[in-house]
This record gives sequence, C-alpha cells and structure tokens, in this order.
Amino acid sequence: MHKRKIIRVILKSILIRVQRGYNIRRHMAANPVKILLIEDNLAEARLLQEFLKQAKSHEFTVVHVQRLAAGLEKLRANNYDAILLDLTLPDSQGLVSLPPLMNQVPSTPIVVLTNINDDELALEAVREGAQDYLVKRQVNVTILIRSIRYAIERKQALETLRNVNQTLEHRVEEKTAELVKAREINKFKSEFVSMLSHDIRNPLNTILLAAGLLQNSDRKLTQEKKQSHFQLIRSAIHNMAHLLDEVSFIGKADAGKLECELICLDLVAFCSEIVAAARLKAVNTHLNLVFSSHGDLGEILCDESLLRHILENLLNNAIKYSPPGGKVTFDIKKKDKQLIFQIQDWGIGIPEAEQKKLFQPFYRASNVENISGTGMGLAIVKKCVDAHNGEILVNSQVGLGTVVTVKLPLIDK
Ligand SMILES: Nc1ncnc2c1ncn2[C@@H]1O[C@H](COP(=O)(O)OP(=O)(O)OP(=O)(O)O)[C@@H](O)[C@H]1O
Ligand SMILES: [Mg+2]
Repeated sequence: MHKRKIIRVILKSILIRVQRGYNIRRHMAANPVKILLIEDNLAEARLLQEFLKQAKSHEFTVVHVQRLAAGLEKLRANNYDAILLDLTLPDSQGLVSLPPLMNQVPSTPIVVLTNINDDELALEAVREGAQDYLVKRQVNVTILIRSIRYAIERKQALETLRNVNQTLEHRVEEKTAELVKAREINKFKSEFVSMLSHDIRNPLNTILLAAGLLQNSDRKLTQEKKQSHFQLIRSAIHNMAHLLDEVSFIGKADAGKLECELICLDLVAFCSEIVAAARLKAVNTHLNLVFSSHGDLGEILCDESLLRHILENLLNNAIKYSPPGGKVTFDIKKKDKQLIFQIQDWGIGIPEAEQKKLFQPFYRASNVENISGTGMGLAIVKKCVDAHNGEILVNSQVGLGTVVTVKLPLIDK
C-alpha cells in the first residue's frame, strides 16, 4: 500500500517536471533565450554574439561582461537561461570560476569556453558541474546553438532527477522515523504490560494466600486472625482497583480523551481541603505540612478533578519520601499570567540521571528502597498538567530533598 503510494508520488513529480520541461521548451520557442556571456576577449565575445544573432531557430538576447565579479553581479539582478563562461578571465583563472556561479545560480546551465588544446580542462569543468564545453576557434552557429540547447535540456533533466531524488530521500526519512517510533511504541507497550502484570500479581498473591488460609485453617483461626486476613484481601483488591484506575486514566489521556472541564474554583479553599486530607493521612509520621498562599488568588478557572490529581499526587510524594517528623511546604501564587504551585520536601531526593524518566508510567527511582508505590503518580500528574497546557519542573538532590513546581496558564473568565 505504502509502496504504491510512494511510486504514485514519484510518478506524479516526474510528470509535473516533464510537463515543466515541455513548458520550458515552448517558452524557449516563444521567448528570447537570455544568455550571460562572461568573456574578457572582446573579439571573441563579438563573434559569439554575431553567431547568436544569425540563429534562425531561436531568438537570443545576450548580456556581455568581461569579469567574473561582473557576471555574479548580473546574476544577482536578473535570471538567465544559460551562461557562456570563458575559463581565462582577468579576475578568475580556470575551474575556480565555476563554484561561485554554481552556488549563486545552481539551476542555470553553464557552457565553458576553452582554447584549443584545453580538452583536459574542459572535461574537468564538465565533471565539476558545467553542462558542456566549446572550443573557441571551432565554434560556428550550429555548434553554438546546439550546445546551448543541449546544456539547457541537460540541466533541466538533472534538476528533475535531483528533485525526484530529494522527494524519495524525504519519503525514506519519513518512513524510517515512523518505523523507529512504531518500534519505540511497541517496546513501551511490552514494558507497560509486563509492569502491569507484575504489579497486579502482588496483590493477587496476597488474596490467594489469605483466602487459602481462611479456607484450610478456618477452625484453627481466631476471630481476630480471620478479620485480619479479610482486611488483607480487601486492601489487596483496593490496591488492584486503584492501579487499574490509574492505568485506564493514562490510556484515556494517551487516546486524547482527557478533557479539561473548566469550572470556577475558590483556589485557597480547594487547596486547604486537599492539605487537610494529606495531613490526616500523614498523622502517624508527625510530619509538618505548611501551606501558604501569596497575594489575592480569588476564583480561578480550571478542571477541579485534574488539579486534584496533580496536587494529591505531589503532596503524597513529598510526604511519602520524607523522613518521619520532616517538613513539607506547599506554596501557591500568581505570576506573569500563570498560577504557580510549589511543593518542597527535605526527603530522600531523586538521583539526577533518573530525573528525566520520572514521568514514564511505572518508573520508580533506584533509591526508593522499601517505600511502596507503583510509579504511576507522576505519569498521571504530567498528563493532567499537559491537559491544562502547563509545565512541571522537578529540582531534586539525593539526600537533600525535592522541589516540584507546576505552572498553569491563568485562563480568563
Ligand atoms: N518528592 C519526592 N522525593 C523523592 N523521590 C520522589 C519524589 N517524588 C517522586 N519521586 C520519585 O519518582 C518516582 C515516581 O513517582 P510516582 O509518584 O510516579 O510513583 P510512586 O510514588 O513510586 O508511586 P505512586 O504511583 O503510588 O505514586 C518515585 O518512585 C520516586 O522514586
Ligand atoms: Mg507517587
């Protein structure tokens, strides 16, 4: 399917160019062919101009200059159909005249003019990019016209080839990039599935174990033990359900289905409520969670549920990765049409080399040791921040702590 499409694109571009070539020939027949003659020998120049005047098949207009610099000047000001270039000029000798001309007008054909016995030089010029060469004393009307026409046609054919080549190269690059991306997505998918099965297997094992104990040792178990086994089963199921919710959240975001439903929110009241819930969770660790808002924040437009995901996850992390009795600060302010949320802790920190991977689902840094977690929190936070067209920055040092800053654009009411 793709192959056919590529062939169709190439054929189309060839056709367009063939048509363009045909148009050029028609144009040549109907309009005078503009020649730039760069020749310092006035007698030779006059002779060539005379030959061109005698041509019956085409009408030529010739602009004559005696130096390369003057030729380049003319080419800057006007378009020419072909250049006749003498290789022995006062300001440029031999093949060095070619590159500046070809750089300035890469699609204008060049015919070099050489002296008798300069065949080697002439051939070298053609190898370097000239379309043809003429030996001065051997030129006549027919040879001159044939050479100019041939040079124009040959250059056109070369241009067509070059363009087709470029189109092809471009398509190949595009397809290669698509392939690389597809391979990365596949790799990511398999990693995702294996992490998910790994994280589901843990609570499943707990359920199997506790259910087995309840079934086989029912009579030997005290009422208290039974209750604790049931509690284990309940929390394992709760963990699985939570994990599946997070995975489906990421799936929804990846499918572009995460919508931002804006409502008017009293920001300070909303954040205070989230802070109160976080303090309650952290009550056993005697952590000091300090919340402060700066300036008049009032009501803002945002998606309540997405903002809750962001703040709850970041506060949970700051608390979870802090030592018992530690401190966490949570600041909010408005600055430059942005809402800025900053959460800082003085906990375990994140190794620098791993910080760029934090937003990948299931990624956990190497220093978490036995602190539990699935590695989904920050992936979700990132999706929510993206849905708000915001940005998230992590600044962290192992052993010193972490500062996470979220910037959301303020939306006009
Ligand atoms: N405040 C923090 N201090 C130190 N490390 C952190 C902090 N926040 C995030 N991390 C590191 O980033 C990793 C990813 O965080 P993320 O919130 O996505 O997952 P998690 O906390 O491990 O699990 P959960 O899905 O339950 O939130 C963490 O495992 C941890 O290594
Ligand atoms: Mg987390």
